[in-house]
Amino acid sequence: MAAADLERVSSAEPEPRSLSLGGHVGFDSLPDQLVSKSVTQGFSFNILCVGETGIGKSTLMNTLFNTTFEAEEASHHEACVRLRPQTYDLQESNVQLKLTIVDAVGFGDQINKDDSYRPIVDYIDAQFENYLQEELKIRRSLFDYHDTRIHACLYFITPTGHSLKSLDLVTMKKLDSKVNIIPIIAKADTISKSELHKFKIKIMGELVSNGVQIYQFPTDDEAVAEINAVMNAHLPFAVVGSTEEVKVGNKLVRARQYPWGVVQVENENHCDFVKLREMLIRVNMEDLREQTHSRHYELYRRCKLEEMGFQDSDGDSQPFSLQETYEAKRKEFLSELQRKEEEMRQMFVNKVKETELELKEKERELHEKFEHLKRIHQEEKRKVEEKRRELEEETNAFNRRKAAVEALQSQALHATSQQPLRKDKDKKN
Ligand code: GTP
Ligand code: MG
Repeated sequence: MAAADLERVSSAEPEPRSLSLGGHVGFDSLPDQLVSKSVTQGFSFNILCVGETGIGKSTLMNTLFNTTFEAEEASHHEACVRLRPQTYDLQESNVQLKLTIVDAVGFGDQINKDDSYRPIVDYIDAQFENYLQEELKIRRSLFDYHDTRIHACLYFITPTGHSLKSLDLVTMKKLDSKVNIIPIIAKADTISKSELHKFKIKIMGELVSNGVQIYQFPTDDEAVAEINAVMNAHLPFAVVGSTEEVKVGNKLVRARQYPWGVVQVENENHCDFVKLREMLIRVNMEDLREQTHSRHYELYRRCKLEEMGFQDSDGDSQPFSLQETYEAKRKEFLSELQRKEEEMRQMFVNKVKETELELKEKERELHEKFEHLKRIHQEEKRKVEEKRRELEEETNAFNRRKAAVEALQSQALHATSQQPLRKDKDKKN
């Protein structure tokens, strides 16, 4: 036998033996202890409502929980989709529920709807990230941590009777690996029964052909398998919401009253509201919470940890070691840092060289310019000197001529002044 096989055999745990008990011990109360602990701790449930403005999100939430949540009307002029979470403490019998309703405000109102899904995806991821950070803390307190991860996304489909809008398909496709999507046809009282039937078939066909995974009510638990299987066939639920009470017979029921009749919210012949409430709250709330943790959060966590360099086994199928992964990551980080440092140093040297060359070139150009100007200056100077000499010569010549003229003039003057004297002498003689 190979050494590795031997090691595996010796380290294998022995099979546990089944024993019967002599009498009542008491650990059959474990499920009750669990229930009691959960009840003391309380539950949290987070619903995300995605649907266009005014589609009836707030009304349906109020109808589902039979209360009035604060909900301000959204404007149709939001620049982008904004997520608005609101948390409420609810109590039924002795069960405490921390319910968070997150509204995707402004969904479908922008002219360019290309990125409408992004704020929703980012919000869901941010809640996963918060949970992961808490899990990774040295001193974590998951026990009293307020879990804000979205457990169910109610996707409100506009009752057009035609087909899904591309915005619906794109958004659901982007969300389906992150959250349990329950599509519902809103304001189902505005569409006729036969149209509604065809619309449901069309929607399911489109979801399948576009590969959109919606939440399926689980059929692996015997207690609820049958009802869940039946309800899966009714998806998407066509719902009507109303908090108004109308008298039908001698009973007050929640309904919408029209001139031609009354649409009763809780009448299964009128709409699927009861089915939705049954599936979402009364039968599958815990499964939605569990699926969120075991499927969607697990996927997020796996991708995130892999991104950070963690893996379950190394290339040789050796078990994962946090210490080794940390060391490997540290080495990788340091060598990357060194590489970056070297790159930056090289860049700096190159830059200095470039600047030096540029400066030298500038210096040469300046020198040439200086020489050129010097030459021009010397030439000018020579010309001026020549002109000065010429001018001097001209001045000298002029002065000479002037002196000659003056000499001539004085001679002439002298001559004329002698003439009368001679005449007088002649006369005397
Ligand atoms: P914003 O939060 O502003 O985006 O709106 P919303 O989606 O919360 O819609 P809201 O519940 O405020 O309802 C808008 C209007 O639709 C109100 O006048 C409701 O009475 C009406 N409405 C709500 N549910 C239904 C329904 O099932 N059928 C019909 N016909 N009207 C409904
Ligand atoms: Mg609202």
